[in-house]
Amino acid sequence: MSRRQVNPNARRFAESSSLPVASALHQKSRSSPLLSVGLILVGAFLLIGYSYSGSGSSSDREALSKDGGDTSCTAEVLRAIPLMRKVYGESMRKVLHVGPDTCAVVSKLLKEDDLEAWGVEPYDLEDANDNCKSLVRKGIVRLADIKFNLPYKEKSFSLVIVSDALDYLSPKYLNKTLPELARVSEDGLVLFAGYPGQQRAKGVELSKFGRPAKLRSQSWWIRYFVQTGLQENDSVAKKFEQVLNKKAYKPSCQIFHLSPDH
Ligand SMILES: *[C@@H]1O[C@H](CO)[C@@H](O)[C@H](O)[C@H]1NC(C)=O
Ligand SMILES: *[C@@H]1O[C@H](CO)[C@@H](O)[C@H](O)[C@H]1NC(C)=O
Repeated sequence: MSRRQVNPNARRFAESSSLPVASALHQKSRSSPLLSVGLILVGAFLLIGYSYSGSGSSSDREALSKDGGDTSCTAEVLRAIPLMRKVYGESMRKVLHVGPDTCAVVSKLLKEDDLEAWGVEPYDLEDANDNCKSLVRKGIVRLADIKFNLPYKEKSFSLVIVSDALDYLSPKYLNKTLPELARVSEDGLVLFAGYPGQQRAKGVELSKFGRPAKLRSQSWWIRYFVQTGLQENDSVAKKFEQVLNKKAYKPSCQIFHLSPDH
């Protein structure tokens, strides 16, 4: 169930059989028999659902959300890149992504035309694959604790995208980190945060992130932005909403569009 993975693709396919269910059962069986029965049922439905699901984009999405059995907003960023390009246009020319598995996001961004990308990995890079190691060697991806100042000059990027990482910060650190993310951005800041009640792998969280995620509601975030003087970019938010509707796309994470407001 680890999110640290050598080759995400290989692992995803290896686990898309009955394996995750079996290992989940193994871990939980000691805690409660009722839970085990529930898990068997859930597992059965997942398997049935999986075998009935067709190919194409929906199976892609399913494979990602099955990854470790949790919902990661970094996976959501990967899916949302084409939509963000539509909405941000020129503002998406120099992008910094901050969050776990940033190598995956940076690699994907670098495949886009007319786009430069960098990444900050706030957690560990121990199990990084060769591609990721090469990004680190080139200085494109950096390991940095986002509780401290980021190693970049003001307005170094046109757009800063953050996923998951903020869910692991207390308000005290958010107060330092959000303005810091805004400082290095010229045009905007896109936050991907989990929905309250979202399932995340607890054991992995403690070993990797040091604490369980604190998934906050939309109203909490909006109150927080107002308190700390961060402005939402309404015109971009509206455009993004339109693109989502047109594609009948429902993100599995909350997405906020902020102005850096220099
Ligand atoms: C964060 O900043 C806001 C606005 O400046 C302040 O009201 C709040 O008390 C701060 N929170 C913490 C935990 O420092
Ligand atoms: C909203 O974002 C767009 C695209 O990055 C930008 O051009 C515009 O200036 C932003 N508006 C505000 C109020 O920050």
